[in-house]
Amino acid sequence: MMNPMTADNLRSAFGGESQAHMRYRIWAEKAEKDGFPTVARLFMATSDAEQVHATLHFKALKDEVGDFSVTSGAGFGYGTTSDNLQGAINGELHEVNQMYPAYIAVAELQEEKEALRAYRYAIEAEKVHAELFTKAKEAVDAGKDLEAKVVELCPICGYITLTGEEDKCPLCNAKKEVFVAY
Ligand SMILES: [Fe+2]
Ligand SMILES: [Fe+2]
Repeated sequence: MMNPMTADNLRSAFGGESQAHMRYRIWAEKAEKDGFPTVARLFMATSDAEQVHATLHFKALKDEVGDFSVTSGAGFGYGTTSDNLQGAINGELHEVNQMYPAYIAVAELQEEKEALRAYRYAIEAEKVHAELFTKAKEAVDAGKDLEAKVVELCPICGYITLTGEEDKCPLCNAKKEVFVAY
């Protein structure tokens, strides 16, 4: 059996990632309506990245069968695309600076290898998400859409590129052939 505190943290991370997945789809639709189609693509790619993380957490919990009440942080708000991008940046930075470092510390203490692998993919990808959302917000606040050569997702770890210049995923080493375009 998994240590109960790591299991609790994984369920909470699953909840947070699941809600981020849905929230970004809602904000993608709004970005489309607001006339920012590339920002909408970034929201959709990032939505799917959060599904990748939720899936890693879910699979790490494979032996923890049953019903649980799950408490997880989740941002709310349906404003302008600039507001929504700020919400996205805040959520990503919460994960990067607060949530995952704390969960990683517990999992290291409890020697929970599979949880650690899931958290480490997630925290590194969320750093990239925060950067890309910041870039998107700067463009939107200047009255422009995000500029991107491509919007591509690594479906193994949740990394996202706007250049397509990587030979392989810089976070998980996956071949770039597996990247998914939006
Ligand atoms: Fe993210
Ligand atoms: Fe990757």
